[in-house]
Amino acid sequence: MRKYLTAAIVLLLGRGHARRTPRVLPTAPPNPGAEAAAVALLFLAALLGVGFIVVYAVSSLPDQTQLLGAALGLSLLSIAGALIIVGKKLVVTEELVEPYPPDEHPGEQELVVELVEESGERITRRRLFKLGVGAAGGTLGLAALTPALSFGPLFQTKYFRGTPWRKGRRLVDEGSRPYRASDIEENDFYTAFPEGSTLQSREDLGAPIVLVRLPKSRLRLPPELAGYAADGIVAYSKICTHAGCAISMYRAPLFQPDEPRPALVCPCHYSTFDPADGGSVLFGPAGRRLPMLPLAIDAKGYLRAKGTFDDQVGPTWWGTHIWRPTP
Ligand code: FES
Repeated sequence: MRKYLTAAIVLLLGRGHARRTPRVLPTAPPNPGAEAAAVALLFLAALLGVGFIVVYAVSSLPDQTQLLGAALGLSLLSIAGALIIVGKKLVVTEELVEPYPPDEHPGEQELVVELVEESGERITRRRLFKLGVGAAGGTLGLAALTPALSFGPLFQTKYFRGTPWRKGRRLVDEGSRPYRASDIEENDFYTAFPEGSTLQSREDLGAPIVLVRLPKSRLRLPPELAGYAADGIVAYSKICTHAGCAISMYRAPLFQPDEPRPALVCPCHYSTFDPADGGSVLFGPAGRRLPMLPLAIDAKGYLRAKGTFDDQVGPTWWGTHIWRPTP
């Protein structure tokens, strides 16, 4: 352990100043091969640290988790290998059998300084070494900070912002059959997708919606959502604004008097949304209401989108509007 600590001090500080006293350790020739191997391992560690950041950024990579683990593990292994080589091959050492010196001996500190200075004599490319240590430490530090990006997307925000809903697009069920307004009954809820979507594109955050029908007298949509309902039918993004689970429960019919109104519920952490009030949050950890899709009924009775959502779909992150309770 002492050797590795000495090696680290030598790499970071170098010799510092000229020797003033006679040598303590025997001289040893430089070992260019070991030196080159240690520097190469340090730069390999830096490269793997950069690799970790790149793999983290490109979330479309297959087996991303395994690649992240491999990059970080190999980077640490490379640093360990470099330190072993420095300790075994580059630090000048000498084994002495002698009684332990008394504490606080006035010459002891001077001796330690000499040891540090002479131990690093075999390292001839100090600047390169320092660069390697700095690169490896710096990139590993950055790699350790990279997971903070998970607080929200940084590189691929398009996936979070785009939706396939456009004006005039019909609503279809899981079998691609277009919904008629008459299909939607009270006390039940329905999942819908944009007409023309494929099985794969239905996995996109902006594709699935939930549909419910409420008595028109119960609708209390805020002014900015006026005209979003069609004959009492309302449509919201099916993706919970908390952490992105699917809204898959509908609290209807009710068990009076405990539950005052129908509600859409996310089973992950029980965020509860009010479909009559523009998808506002009634309960749970969701930070903002559900984005709403404006609906229309065409001449043949089919449900169509009148446009896209009024707000960004998906879980809430630093790029979305944060819902605040009204005082
Ligand atoms: S993801 Fe819906 S409540 Fe947490």
